[in-house]
Amino acid sequence: MTASINDEVFKQFRDFIYEKSGIFIPDNKKYFLENRLGRRVQEMNLKGYDDYLYHLKYNADQKELQRLFDLITTNETFFFREPQQFDVFKGDLLNTISAENAKAGRRDIKIWSAASSTGEEAYTVSIVLLEKPELSGFKKEILASDISESVLSSARAGVYGSYAIRNIPPAYLSKYFSNTEQQYSVSNTVKSMVKFSKVNLIEERDVRVMRGIDVIFCRNVLIYFDDKAKQKVVSHLYDALRPGGYLFVGTSESLHNLTRAFRPVVINKVIIYQKG
Ligand SMILES: C[S@@+](CC[C@H](N)C(=O)[O-])C[C@H]1O[C@@H](n2cnc3c(N)ncnc32)[C@H](O)[C@@H]1O
Repeated sequence: MTASINDEVFKQFRDFIYEKSGIFIPDNKKYFLENRLGRRVQEMNLKGYDDYLYHLKYNADQKELQRLFDLITTNETFFFREPQQFDVFKGDLLNTISAENAKAGRRDIKIWSAASSTGEEAYTVSIVLLEKPELSGFKKEILASDISESVLSSARAGVYGSYAIRNIPPAYLSKYFSNTEQQYSVSNTVKSMVKFSKVNLIEERDVRVMRGIDVIFCRNVLIYFDDKAKQKVVSHLYDALRPGGYLFVGTSESLHNLTRAFRPVVINKVIIYQKG
């Protein structure tokens, strides 16, 4: 059984997590912290959540903060999630971008999966690019990042179970994966196009290394932030894009009422935000 957290400590913990990650835990989700952190408090033989918070604030090295991020993040993802977005990306969007870049004398395309979790989104982008022979003359770079080191190490391994691969068209599954005992390993061709790194989207100094990006996928992560944190993250993404670059958020997410810096473009009912 997980011990309960008192209201005062909950608020302090919630504020600490918010400051470090942008993730906002509302008052009615005290159980979320208890479920996610209770076991860690026990493992460390601490008296309670207040001791764990004290440890994080004053004693801990970056490793424990990293551990906290691993515990509090929700990493649900799968290949070809929200497939309409990938259809638009593969068709109109990549055609426009490759034409624009070629016109500007650029023979490269830079894509960023900004909250990549275990890598399915970034590898989906990789497959889509490989399936676009018109781009063969372009250098293709896919950057992928997350705040959680544990999901990044799974992403680098590139081995998945049946849940993650269920939306992959069968022809791509046989072409880009090897399969042993319900484990699907991404091929080296797909893997070699993606570079994973740790980036905390709320930290300007982390995002600063990302510049000149053509398309950012930042999907199903803004939902964990409050409006203030969303605005901060979206302005970091804006700075990372090249002028005229595009941003995908999750289909249940929107930039409405958050910023006017992006122009919503609608293609086949999919909304993409273009840097003004
Ligand atoms: C639900 S997953 C979404 C994965 C993928 N983008 C998709 O749509 O399938 C959300 C991811 O956001 C990451 N995340 C949460 N806060 C973050 C932050 N401040 N900076 C970077 N990544 C963050 C989590 O670790 C988690 O892996």
